[in-house]
Amino acid sequence: AVPPPPSSNLRGSWEALRAEAMVCTRCDLHKCATQTVFGEGPLDARIMFVGEQPGDQEDLAGRPFVGPAGQIFDAALERAGIDRAGVYVTNAVKHFKFVLRGKRRIHSRPDTGEIDACRWWVDNERSLIRPPLTVALGATAARSLLHKSVTISRVRGEPLALPDGGGECWVTVHPSFLLRIPEEDRKREEQALFVRDLERIKARA
Ligand code: URA
Repeated sequence: AVPPPPSSNLRGSWEALRAEAMVCTRCDLHKCATQTVFGEGPLDARIMFVGEQPGDQEDLAGRPFVGPAGQIFDAALERAGIDRAGVYVTNAVKHFKFVLRGKRRIHSRPDTGEIDACRWWVDNERSLIRPPLTVALGATAARSLLHKSVTISRVRGEPLALPDGGGECWVTVHPSFLLRIPEEDRKREEQALFVRDLERIKARA
């Protein structure tokens, strides 16, 4: 019999991984979040984007980057000519971390213990998908992928080596950084720099 191609059960392996992640208790964040928000996208994607963690809307929808930061991300991808349906999108931390203020759930940054605990899932997603380019959106994703804290402005816009040799890592800003800039001119400038980073990444893919 002809042996199956090596990736023939890639979808099955990914689905099994996702199912395991759905009941993850590697850190305490599962206790308050609605659900695990796993990555999504084609398993032969050449670019994997890694965000920080799901926000309020992602936690409810069970999908990454569907809220306000997702809208900024989608608009920038479109300007850079990258089809979101052709890339894999995930997060460094798979559960929403928040503090309650009245009825509102306010985003709270994951700490290094939570980032390090959740690296297990990102590493497994990467080892199944093997993207030649992995993009860290912001400092949390950069820490997860590079195993150390970096200053975004020092490392953005150039390819870095992943510590496990798994292709190139690019670091850029997180879309929610753009959301928070109050001055319109500066916001436009930073959006253009983000799109420029995405265009460079696209050119390498
Ligand atoms: N911010 C992220 O980092 N990821 C999401 O999925 C949503 C907002």
